Amino acid sequence: MSAPMAVFEAMRRRRMHRQYLPEPPDRATLDRLVYAAGRAQVARPGIRHLVVVTDPRIVHTLRQACPGFVNNAPVAIAVCSDLERSEQESGIRGVEVVSRLDAGASAAFMALAAPALGIGVCKVTSWSEEVVQAILGLPEHVRPEVLMAVGIPVANPSKPLKGFQPSVHSDRFDQPWTTSP
Ligand SMILES: Cc1cc2nc3c(=O)[nH]c(=O)nc-3n(C[C@H](O)[C@H](O)[C@H](O)COP(=O)(O)O)c2cc1C
Repeated sequence: MSAPMAVFEAMRRRRMHRQYLPEPPDRATLDRLVYAAGRAQVARPGIRHLVVVTDPRIVHTLRQACPGFVNNAPVAIAVCSDLERSEQESGIRGVEVVSRLDAGASAAFMALAAPALGIGVCKVTSWSEEVVQAILGLPEHVRPEVLMAVGIPVANPSKPLKGFQPSVHSDRFDQPWTTSP
């Protein structure tokens, strides 16, 4: 496990990794990552479930089943939502919107924690929910939202993909936000 890192430095360094060493991060490091995933703001009590997948056979099955799992990470963490709880708390918007935002926050915290822990992650979202539910044995009312592939990145990873900067607007869409000089 590495030393703490200032948050803006973690933002600068964070990236999605797709090439990993075969050995998984140690248990203490995974515990810290799970802590980060749980510390992200929770939309409503009882919504968020995390499934930490370290069994190589299950990770392999996830990789085979999910078209977006285009990396060789040895571990995956599934961020899932309890849809019954979401609906109780926020109705249909809870199911369709709030729970997705909840999972996104959790994944973002993991992405920020990863460089401080000396590990890499990659968000994976391209899949069939039913297939991931079956692989992980999720109850029908628990929906997988995000899979975070987790591992120790190779020493010389290929460059991050380019062109993912957001467009920033000021007050209204037709006016660009300009950063202060
Ligand atoms: C909502 C969302 C879904 C994503 N889905 C996938 C995915 O299925 N597979 C994948 O390899 N990367 C996925 N990514 C990662 C993006 O492709 C990645 O952020 C992009 O390559 C930019 O790289 P960077 O984050 O390293 O700057 C996803 C990212 C987000 C925010």
